[in-house]
Amino acid sequence: MASFKNPRASRPHLRTVSITGVGSYVPEKILSNLDLEKIVETTDSWIFSRTGIRERRLAAENEAASDLATKAAMRAIADAKLTPDQIDLIIVATITPDMQFPSTACLVQQKLGAKRAAAFDIEAACSGFVYALDIGAHFVQSHTYNTVLVIGAEKMSSVIDWTDRSTCVLFGDGAGAAVLQNRPSAHGLLTTCLGADGGKATLLEVPAGGSRQPASSSTVSDRLHYLRMDGKETFKNAVNAMVTAAEEAMSRCELTVERIRCIIPHQANQRILSAVTERLGAREDQVFVNLDRYGNTSAASVAIALDEAVREGRIKRGDLVLMVVFGAGLTWGAAIIEW
Ligand code: UT7
Repeated sequence: MASFKNPRASRPHLRTVSITGVGSYVPEKILSNLDLEKIVETTDSWIFSRTGIRERRLAAENEAASDLATKAAMRAIADAKLTPDQIDLIIVATITPDMQFPSTACLVQQKLGAKRAAAFDIEAACSGFVYALDIGAHFVQSHTYNTVLVIGAEKMSSVIDWTDRSTCVLFGDGAGAAVLQNRPSAHGLLTTCLGADGGKATLLEVPAGGSRQPASSSTVSDRLHYLRMDGKETFKNAVNAMVTAAEEAMSRCELTVERIRCIIPHQANQRILSAVTERLGAREDQVFVNLDRYGNTSAASVAIALDEAVREGRIKRGDLVLMVVFGAGLTWGAAIIEW
């Protein structure tokens, strides 16, 4: 008997959903803090002490979000011992799609040769992977599809203002993917809590390039196609939202934090991770961190971290995993999975 409550058990007509394969990909090119010292007025010691980041990856010029996503997806599909033709649905979470349309998911479908799969993108910024996980899980639970591929993929370097030291030091490129299927012997995804506050949309945004301010020579000269962030306000909101979402998810499963084997938080800033860890009453060794190597990869962040945590043996079959995210929108979310 499991010693936690499965909130989904009261709905027996729904199937359980497990993550049966994970994979990730980061580009080869490394941009270190020392490299950044040559681009903007900053120092390795400022960046590391204020963020915990030492280096990040940069995609090649000819590498777009769909290329990163496809490589991560191929690894997740192989990990699940499947072939691309067995995928029923592809969901890509991204804020840096290859283009405005068609969706990055459709481009990934073609690159994978996943001919049977339906495909669409979702956009919830850094919270995108947990949003996509929840959406994908519903298709499996409801017996609509058997095999759903969920991907978080970002080429953040394509929206970074390399003259703005307050943001360009923070972000990196990469992708992570997970295959969702019913595994009858496991509880799998126990609960997800998602949230949003559009009233704070301007804290973190790329202002132009959409229907509000279509691309024009003035939007380009005003640098409106780059990411802008009110770092301090975003920081405060991140800590509060992540703690609240994680506590709500644990309470729904009647779990205390010491029961969680591995916490996978969105990797934005070590000071955010430390504050969240402390406020949840968690131990540092429960929290998976790879921020030092990749920076903030937005929707790819927890997907890459999940894959690395599994590969490093930090998560084993039967363990309880808590993912907790926060991003532009504002958006946030938490998920608890019995692995
Ligand atoms: O993924 C979505 C979620 N994103 C986040 O959660 C990010 C949240 N925010 C943060 O992580 C932090 O707010 C930052 C890392 C962005 C900034 O850290 P901070 O401690 O809030 O610094 P600050 O913005 O208050 O800046 C402090 C000082 C300023 O100088 P003055 O005005 O005190 O003279 C900045 O100009 O640090 C300066 N500064 C820098 N100095 C060296 C800002 N960026 C840099 C830099 N190098 N790269």
